[in-house]
Amino acid sequence: MERPAVVPLEGLPERVTIYEVGARDGLQNEAALVPTEIKAELITRLLDAGLPIVEATSFVHPTWVPQLADAAELMALLGDRGRDLPVLVPNERGLDRALELGCRHIAIFGSATETFAAKNLNNTLDGQLAMFEPTVRRARDAGIDVRAYVSMCFGDPWEGAVPIEQVVSVGRRLFDLGASQLSIGDTIGVGTAGHVTALVQAFGAAGLGTAHLAMHFHDTYGQALANTLAALRTGITTFDASAGGLGGCPYAKSATGNLATEDLVWMLTGLGIQHGVDLTAMVETSTWLAGHLGRPSPSAVVRALGPGVAPVRE
Ligand code: HMG
Ligand code: MG
Repeated sequence: MERPAVVPLEGLPERVTIYEVGARDGLQNEAALVPTEIKAELITRLLDAGLPIVEATSFVHPTWVPQLADAAELMALLGDRGRDLPVLVPNERGLDRALELGCRHIAIFGSATETFAAKNLNNTLDGQLAMFEPTVRRARDAGIDVRAYVSMCFGDPWEGAVPIEQVVSVGRRLFDLGASQLSIGDTIGVGTAGHVTALVQAFGAAGLGTAHLAMHFHDTYGQALANTLAALRTGITTFDASAGGLGGCPYAKSATGNLATEDLVWMLTGLGIQHGVDLTAMVETSTWLAGHLGRPSPSAVVRALGPGVAPVRE
């Protein structure tokens, strides 16, 4: 069976935008360096599979994330097609690098907690906002679109529970710098469906409605699809996902893979929600990538539909 029966549920959006993070969030955690040509082919395959947004790479400090130190070479390989793909930028130095290459969409990434701001950005909670402020201002002045991520929204491996009011307060401050969208990150995958609903409602009460929000789930505790369904019920229409369920954050203890794009596509298809993504092409892509990474994809749908690890073609 290659696709689920389509049985819609009432009250869900008609259409969803999948924001693909596999080439960035998926690969950033891989210890063995993936050749730049493979990254470029991955991104091209993802775009060809119908994904409307494919985050390409990060312009962070190369010693902090060595896997993505080839960001400039990757953008050169992608050519014109690369300039419309979002890239992660933490500060003005990262923005300079992205601007030099003609990037038109950037994403800043803040933390809802003090500890993760220190671990991931070598900064404080307030300090990260001071770092992002000139970055976003200059990006906007240059006509660049800015997305803002907020991490550790459902729990933090060092601090434990993270109060909803704290997440909303930091998220609002990040968005108000001049972002067009706020992506709410469950960096370590500990969130559950009621918590998702309460957090989206709290953002709504603070004036940030679902049109400006995206959900970014990691599947560490197997909750990502349940959480997606809860978010769909609140009216969220943008979901981050990673090809094959790869992912994790090198600076977040216990962060594992993102919600797999194929698992999300399977559920949306079954619900009759439009997404524009070719599932067969996705499964082929993740199987091909698994061949290069040397281990099967963690995605349940890729395992169910794919042949496992494809042999690497030289
Ligand atoms: P720092 O060491 O405090 O940097 O790192 P600094 O500002 O003190 O500068 C030190 C040196 O680094 C200077 O060079 C700078 O020019 C250089 P020197 O003068 O010594 O020769 N430098 C840079 N070089 C290249 N590119 C740059 C850059 N910035 C400074 N952008 C910094 C601060 C923010 C740079 C560092 O902490 C960093 O790069 N962090 C990134 C960590 C990261 O990428 N984490 C993963 C992404 S977040 C994530 O995965 C979560 C998410 O998926 C959502 C979720 O799941 O929750 C988005
Ligand atoms: Mg992430």
